[in-house]
Amino acid sequence: MNELKLSKRLETVADYIPEGAFFADIGSDHAYLPCYSILQGRASGAIAGEITDGPYESARSQVKKCELSESIFVRKGDGLSVLRNDDQVDCITIAGMGGTLISKILEEGSGKLTNVTRLILQPNIHAISIRLWLVDNGWKLIAEEIIEEDHKIYEVLVAEKGDPKEPYQAHSYEASLLLGPFLAAKRSDIFMKKWTGELNHLKSIIKQLEQAGHTIESSEKYQELIKQVKLIEEVL
Ligand SMILES: C[S@@+](CC[C@H](N)C(=O)[O-])C[C@H]1O[C@@H](n2cnc3c(N)ncnc32)[C@H](O)[C@@H]1O
Repeated sequence: MNELKLSKRLETVADYIPEGAFFADIGSDHAYLPCYSILQGRASGAIAGEITDGPYESARSQVKKCELSESIFVRKGDGLSVLRNDDQVDCITIAGMGGTLISKILEEGSGKLTNVTRLILQPNIHAISIRLWLVDNGWKLIAEEIIEEDHKIYEVLVAEKGDPKEPYQAHSYEASLLLGPFLAAKRSDIFMKKWTGELNHLKSIIKQLEQAGHTIESSEKYQELIKQVKLIEEVL
């Protein structure tokens, strides 16, 4: 087998893997991303890390099916613990999980990031947790993508080591953390669709809280929602 069809979401992640990289895909499930990137001639090799038995076995059989056992090493374990110091991984991809889990994996495995030059992260929700982690840990966002597939909207965040605050210039820092500095600058149709929907959703919750008698003084949640609405409106 030398061809593999990837979802648009994972293809977007693959597009940012540096040419010739030896990368680690954490939470790899079927190892589609490592198989695809190597079959395409983009990556030189990969480690596919999986914590769960079923997806780990699926990754192993997919690698075998693609005849890539020489260049993809499937390992079972939690997050970056599957990486050894002599692995010489230069890029890490983590896709298809919540932003909070992705940040936790990076935080718990931060000791394994010394020689890594690029992170490609695809949160399904809560991208803000990742942006916060990147800022706190000296990683600079270099690109962001937003795509829609099967009626779901996904973000892809790409970071390299550098001044983490540099991309956060155009809008307020808080608004850029929430919506994404590159995405907010570009304001693509998908971006507008996502945040218009989110804005309407937040406003309807606020209305319900108001009808139930929650006011600025009585509810922390109410205040947080009002704040988020202001941040979104600042960019839209
Ligand atoms: C929804 S799947 C996404 C698979 C693939 N990355 C993708 O984007 O299509 C998430 C995978 O991450 C794995 N996972 C969750 N937490 C993990 C962790 N701490 N370390 C390694 N794998 C993890 C799950 O077992 C699951 O197979």
